[in-house]
Amino acid sequence: MLRNKHSSAPAKATTRSKGEKGNHYLPLDTILVGDCIEQMNALPEASVDLVFADPPYFLQLEKGLTRPDQSHVDGVHDEWDKFSDFAHYDKFSRDWMAAAKRILKPNGAIWVIGSYHNIFRCGAVLQDLGFWMLNDVIWRKSNPMPNFRGTRFTNAHETLIWASRDQNSKPTFNYDALKQANDDTQMRSDWLFPICTGAERLKDDNDDKVHPTQKPESLLYRVLMATTKPGDVVLDPFFGTGTTGAVAKKLGRHFIGCEREETYINAALKRIASIKPLENIVLETVKGKRAEKRVAFGSLIEQGLIMPGAKLVDAKQKHEAIVRADGSLISGKHEGSIHKVGALVQDAAACNGWTYWHLKEGKNLTCIDEYRTQIREQMKKLSA
Ligand SMILES: C[S@@+](CC[C@H](N)C(=O)[O-])C[C@H]1O[C@@H](n2cnc3c(N)ncnc32)[C@H](O)[C@@H]1O
Repeated sequence: MLRNKHSSAPAKATTRSKGEKGNHYLPLDTILVGDCIEQMNALPEASVDLVFADPPYFLQLEKGLTRPDQSHVDGVHDEWDKFSDFAHYDKFSRDWMAAAKRILKPNGAIWVIGSYHNIFRCGAVLQDLGFWMLNDVIWRKSNPMPNFRGTRFTNAHETLIWASRDQNSKPTFNYDALKQANDDTQMRSDWLFPICTGAERLKDDNDDKVHPTQKPESLLYRVLMATTKPGDVVLDPFFGTGTTGAVAKKLGRHFIGCEREETYINAALKRIASIKPLENIVLETVKGKRAEKRVAFGSLIEQGLIMPGAKLVDAKQKHEAIVRADGSLISGKHEGSIHKVGALVQDAAACNGWTYWHLKEGKNLTCIDEYRTQIREQMKKLSA
């Protein structure tokens, strides 16, 4: 099995040679040194749960941007962000995304973050390769850099695309945990976080930023809490200072990073070494009804919780139905499952029979969902 138990082993950087393709070794909690396409192509097929990618933006910046006080603005002028033209950028995107798709498990997913310079091109390539779009998320920056020349809007957001490996994938989405974290309101696709500043921003001995585009840990925290489970393997092809690795380690997930630049690799190794993983007990998340074991209505009858011939009514006692020995209901001319008959008596398109029907005993009404809960409790005790 490729997925290991949570590990707090120190991160290591390793250089892998070509020709290791196809073996079943998965270098967990490791930074693979070198080109991410070569590195991913050397990993086993269908072996990682999530890819988080923050690729070069191909910003094409003019040099020498200054603030009104004439101080210099730190842009991204690094070699890794340079491509000769869009055709080369698109080929690069196709190559790394195809490599990422090969190593994703069938239910795996990918996140790609970018700005208006590159995210639309990345989105088109994702779709061309058969990834299945799930959401685009706007990361709204609470402290964006102003537009110093005053010629455009303040560029105050980046876009993240979340896509599954293909249309049939069932990727992890911790809906209930997210809702819980958002004060019992569905989590939306617009997220507000500050850009990476203060103590979190890695600086070198001259007090200069180690990396021009270090992402905030808050962003990765949301991504990993939303779309991975403890013990999952998260691969970041453009590891930079290791933000993905640092958050993955904290949250009990495994990481694999790819990075070419030695300075970033060393900074990432030091950063990740200082992270203490959270204990398993605090990593457990709220699970909603969807995550619970399926119980058929027929098992309530088999287990004697509801007798054949019992009368079910809705909460307002407008409609009634009789339970048959096979677990079906009959109500006048309508017959079928608890859901089907619930929908037919109301002339509705659909109905959740579990919450609609109540067992009537004398004057007492008990929602049939309570009996399902009893069976689930028994099942939990038996599997404990
Ligand atoms: C936008 S930055 C990622 C920053 C990172 N998310 C962080 O929080 O520090 C992109 C990174 O990808 C690396 N990179 C670019 N092309 C690469 C390639 N072909 N293989 C591996 N790394 C690459 C660059 O060196 C750079 O550190």
